Amino acid sequence: MSLKVIGGEVDVALTARFVSLFGETPRTYRAPGRVNLIGEHTDYSEGSVLPAALTLSCWVAGVPRTDGVLVVHSDNFNERITGPAGARAGGWEDYVRGVALALGAAGHRISGANLLIRGDVPMGAGLGSSAAVEVAVACALLDLSGLEMDRLDVARLCQHAENAFVGARCGIMDQFVAMYARAGTALRLDCRSLEFELVPIPDYVRLVACNSMVRHRLADGEYNRRRAECEAAVARVAPAIPGLRSLRDVDPTWLEAHRGEIPDRLYRRIKHVVTENVRVLEMSDALRREDLGRAGALMAESHRSLRDDYEVSCPELDLMVALADRAPGIIGARMTGGGFGGSTVNLVHEGAVEDFCRYVAQRYETQSGRRPDIHVTMTGDGAGRVMG
Ligand code: GLA
Repeated sequence: MSLKVIGGEVDVALTARFVSLFGETPRTYRAPGRVNLIGEHTDYSEGSVLPAALTLSCWVAGVPRTDGVLVVHSDNFNERITGPAGARAGGWEDYVRGVALALGAAGHRISGANLLIRGDVPMGAGLGSSAAVEVAVACALLDLSGLEMDRLDVARLCQHAENAFVGARCGIMDQFVAMYARAGTALRLDCRSLEFELVPIPDYVRLVACNSMVRHRLADGEYNRRRAECEAAVARVAPAIPGLRSLRDVDPTWLEAHRGEIPDRLYRRIKHVVTENVRVLEMSDALRREDLGRAGALMAESHRSLRDDYEVSCPELDLMVALADRAPGIIGARMTGGGFGGSTVNLVHEGAVEDFCRYVAQRYETQSGRRPDIHVTMTGDGAGRVMG
């Protein structure tokens, strides 16, 4: 991995802040948040996903230390920790410690560092803020220690840190897209083979993320419960399907033929995964053909499936999608990310974006009592060192 290829500009204010805290001029690293267009809750069943990285990012400024100690200041929380060792605390520092400890456990000789972290990916909004912190910290610690690591290994290590240290059994999607994304495209990833293709997003389509302001936290239990249900579903159908490794191997026709033999809840979980996988492939195709009518229909089907079969939506997300479906310029809307709160993703015609935002914001606030945070996002590149 060559971190030196990334463009972008060093944030002068971040550098000045680092100098005021630590008295030296830092190097700066960035990793993006993401919005997933379709392919939700499929990555840990080895299915397909179609996320795009955003310009909303986490930045890490840092200098190496020679004593192996990690001193990390979070500008978002105005808190400081030292490490890398330390107990899980349930906050931002877990992502940092988790990555640093995972690097050490994997045999990398990390020199220690002074780091300053600042991010503008909204937290708990389903926009990949956790992976952005993990990947930015990993890039910083590796580069400041004079180490190189393959991009895929960085993504896997960060996923492992979140699984093992933070306690959220997330899949590979967020960390992978944070490493491999290219601006202007979505990234269709096969989460078994880890083969991917970049799918151009038509330049007259805007990605709008509407934060329901219902905060989600993956470590809170329901997400991990869905993973456990998928494992239970695999155990249930495996005897009948030779060679089955994960739910992606279940054939939709087989599923319908055997519906009566599978407990209803597990049937619905499997149905979501197998139908969502088909939708990812169709969505990539629809975007390439600029068939926006089809793209919107697929997003609507995806949302219904997540709401009714996988049961990871919530009333506020359903309201946000229902409002978006009637708003000016809408192409398609669905919940995005882990669910149970967080954001919707909306494809909107460029010329109608302001009207769209106004329409959704006003009605959502009146009907839910929460003021939504609406981001007209820009797609961004994957992680790297920002050149000073
Ligand atoms: C979170 C996880 C991902 C993925 C999504 C749901 O963002 O980090 O791995 O499972 O939820 O699609």
